[in-house]
Amino acid sequence: MKTMRVSGEPDAKPFLLDCDPGHDDMVAMMVAIAAADIELLGVTTVAGNQTGEKTALNARRVATLVGEHNLPIAKGCERPLYRELRTAPHIHGNSGLDGADLPEPTVALRPEHAVDFMERVILGSDRPVTLVPTGPLTNVAMLLRKAPQVRENIERIVLMGGSMHESNVTPVAEFNIFVDPEAADAVFTSGLPVTMVGLDLTYRALFGEEDFVRLEQSGGHVSAVVAPLLRFFAGAYEKRRGTRAAPLHDALAVAIARDPSLAETRNFHVAVETQGRYTTGQTVVDTRGVTGNPPNAEVAVEFDLQRFKSIIFEAIGCLDARPSPLG
Ligand code: BDR
Ligand code: CA
Repeated sequence: MKTMRVSGEPDAKPFLLDCDPGHDDMVAMMVAIAAADIELLGVTTVAGNQTGEKTALNARRVATLVGEHNLPIAKGCERPLYRELRTAPHIHGNSGLDGADLPEPTVALRPEHAVDFMERVILGSDRPVTLVPTGPLTNVAMLLRKAPQVRENIERIVLMGGSMHESNVTPVAEFNIFVDPEAADAVFTSGLPVTMVGLDLTYRALFGEEDFVRLEQSGGHVSAVVAPLLRFFAGAYEKRRGTRAAPLHDALAVAIARDPSLAETRNFHVAVETQGRYTTGQTVVDTRGVTGNPPNAEVAVEFDLQRFKSIIFEAIGCLDARPSPLG
């Protein structure tokens, strides 16, 4: 793995992160910001874990905490394409990032909508852009509808969402897909290369108490904020799943987008249920090829947990080495 450093290398992969921070989105941002081999063109936010106002504010707070003062951040859709917004305060708290005080943001929002920002940045990039959505897919679906010409300059969409066998928000659905299933359907049927990083893997991308202690003992100013945030997140998961550990769902998607060798994938057809009586938001993954539909996604089926954890510690360590916003 390449050493992380403050800004991108000349051969760094251009990335756009579309997120709804969110504890694990925060860690995803940190990996994308710290990795020398990612050129982070911007962060766009969407309503999901919390309202659009809150997720945009949280993205700005995270950028401020890690000293990424020039990071372009653009706020996107306030609600799903056709449905009422469902948020996740039971997991991420009332602020969307409960558990520690983040600094007041000094990083401004771009004065344009996230969808316009994505369009401009993708069309303006001299190399195809990797798009990493880690929230509901509303902004991405809007982008593909508004500016279909961006397809020509999208390398791949590596999304956190869905699952083969796991679920969290209903017996069969994962949160990001459930919140905006029509948007997810638009992405999976877009014909673009899609990698799905779902709950089957991300529920194993766990940070536990010994990892929190390791962060605290590092003495870094970013680690000192991340540790209590992830403890809060782990506590929320303990109430629902019985294990006190924080699944870093979204950070795993960024890590796999950055280095596909971190995961094993299989080509499957994935359909999104948009009309189910009980199953809306389910990703129906045809693992046995029974539908005869050609594969439309690479589905991540295995990953290297120890390598993933090293990536997280290295990213946060890199950000700890920057000056603290609190002086
Ligand atoms: C997904 O839902 C959100 O709560 C997390 O940030 C992650 O993107 C996991 O289902
Ligand atoms: Ca998320």
